[in-house]
Amino acid sequence: AYRSDDDYDYLFKVVLIGDSGVGKSNLLSRFTKNEFSLESKSTIGVEFATRSISVSEKIVKAQIWDTAGQESMTGQNRFTVTQGRQKHVLEGARLEIAEPRVRAWGLLGLRARELDPGTCKLIRREHIRITAGIIDSPVATYRAITSAYYRGAVGALLVYDITRNATFENMQRWLKELRDHTDSSTVIMLVGNKADLRHLRAVSTEDAMEFAERENTFFMETSALESINVDNAFTEVLTQIF
Ligand code: GTP
Ligand code: MG
Repeated sequence: AYRSDDDYDYLFKVVLIGDSGVGKSNLLSRFTKNEFSLESKSTIGVEFATRSISVSEKIVKAQIWDTAGQESMTGQNRFTVTQGRQKHVLEGARLEIAEPRVRAWGLLGLRARELDPGTCKLIRREHIRITAGIIDSPVATYRAITSAYYRGAVGALLVYDITRNATFENMQRWLKELRDHTDSSTVIMLVGNKADLRHLRAVSTEDAMEFAERENTFFMETSALESINVDNAFTEVLTQIF
């Protein structure tokens, strides 16, 4: 039977968090579109996608939010700005690139100084090179989005990469940020992604289970590439919220 996308009983907002490159966007595209990309680019700004599933004869629509793992979420951003021959490392800076002007603040020599958009080029999310050239790509808006990102979230997937221990160690930080910004009833699933890379494993399942138990979160290992446990992870969160 035809079911319109707006025909649902419950709408749940779920957020994806975790370091850059752990596979958040691919988990999202696997779950909502059954798609995976080996060459996905780092997420710019905030994106979201939806999928409806049925839980106990009710239609639950999940609205899943995704953003880049390295930007201003934690207030620990680090940017490198090259201006002429000088290189500035901007610790804890917030950076906003928006037409018609580019503004950088909270940083050493460039404090609250407005930069001309024509002289600023985004190379990678954390590398802003100020050149005399024209912005050719990509122009993005980075904002202090933290509170808006978490607002109203009733579930969260806290994602790390099983092949990179640092991404697991950062779970503590992400969890704190999440707890600082959401209600204590928010359902949290710790997700060890890239489980297909067995030969490169750096985080043991036991350590992750221990962490999950201690922090009172759910836990699953997934692979967006091989489509392992992706549906299960999202569905479990939605069912628990329900
Ligand atoms: P940011 O947007 O920068 O925060 O990164 P992200 O967490 O969204 O990571 P993304 O989904 O863009 O994936 C990063 C890289 O990991 C890409 O090259 C993906 O193809 C790869 N990747 C994602 N999931 C898996 C997985 O389950 N297995 C393997 N082998 N690679 C994966
Ligand atoms: Mg992404």
